Amino acid sequence: MLTNQSIGYMDAPVPKDLDLKEAIDKLRKEKNAIILAHYYQTGDIQDIADYVGDSLALAQWAAKTKADIIVLCGVHFMGETAKILCPDKKVLVPDLNAGCSLADSCPAPEFAEFVKQHPGHTVISYVNTTAAVKAVTDVVVTSTNARQIVESFPEGTPMIFGPDRNLGNYINSITGRNMLLWDGACHVHEQFSLEKILSLKKQYPNAEVITHPECKQPVIQVSDFVGSTAALLKHTIKSDAKQFIVATESGVIHEMRKQSPDKEFIPAPPNDSTCACNECNFMRLNTMEKLYNCLKFEMPEIFVDEEVQKKAIKPIKKMLEISEKLGL
Ligand code: 13P
Ligand code: SF4
Repeated sequence: MLTNQSIGYMDAPVPKDLDLKEAIDKLRKEKNAIILAHYYQTGDIQDIADYVGDSLALAQWAAKTKADIIVLCGVHFMGETAKILCPDKKVLVPDLNAGCSLADSCPAPEFAEFVKQHPGHTVISYVNTTAAVKAVTDVVVTSTNARQIVESFPEGTPMIFGPDRNLGNYINSITGRNMLLWDGACHVHEQFSLEKILSLKKQYPNAEVITHPECKQPVIQVSDFVGSTAALLKHTIKSDAKQFIVATESGVIHEMRKQSPDKEFIPAPPNDSTCACNECNFMRLNTMEKLYNCLKFEMPEIFVDEEVQKKAIKPIKKMLEISEKLGL
């Protein structure tokens, strides 16, 4: 998948005096390409993208675009989801090393074995998984629609949920279901420090703590609002609060500040204050230079095995159909 050739193109030197915004815009128009960016990308990438969204929105836009090329400024599984939905289009990710620790915590052969050991269970997989995991899944979910999709199955339906134990626990707790959970997690969301959030709460008594459901349960429990990146953003727009402690990857604060310039956003601190652990090192591998190179050379490209693609498209389409019915 990761070839020397594509790595070479990723890091090709870019002339210092090049106006990157102009050059990217020119290439996107010439090549009929669409740039989709996740909220965890750097501000400059979010600002140049055609659409910025959460993982559900990225899949929805990929499914309906008429562009010939999709540039997915996000991580590998997001590019893979777009490629599964659009096998005949060219799907590019600026840096092919942009992986995901959560997807990595669920190797497909082990997950397939787990599924085999629990016959009769409906398999729900978070979108943060490889194509091979999606291929043994009944319905894919994102944090925007997980609750509603789980609740669309009759109570008592035996279910497996993978790979995020925190999101799975959270969905079990709010739905009263008892899904069997895969023991995976995201290294960024597991890092947030409860103690530091509580001490920030003392410093900013009127601030709301808003949290992504990939965080650990004690952080979720002290939160005023829990939701996907898109849900957190929407909440900050409509809430009367003027200050927010944001317990998710700090990239999302870029759009929060743009939408509500009069409000204050405080990134929740990680346990280790010497690192920038509230930034996803994978997401941040993409840069404007790599975005330019990827449009210029049409590399690195995402490929998905044909057999896997045919199986993996079914649970993704199911998610999109249910989400459309629910107006998500
Ligand atoms: P969202 O679906 O909320 O955008 O989350 C994606 C993700 O990777 C969270 O870590
Ligand atoms: Fe994956 Fe975590 Fe990064 Fe999201 S923040 S892409 S779950 S490693």
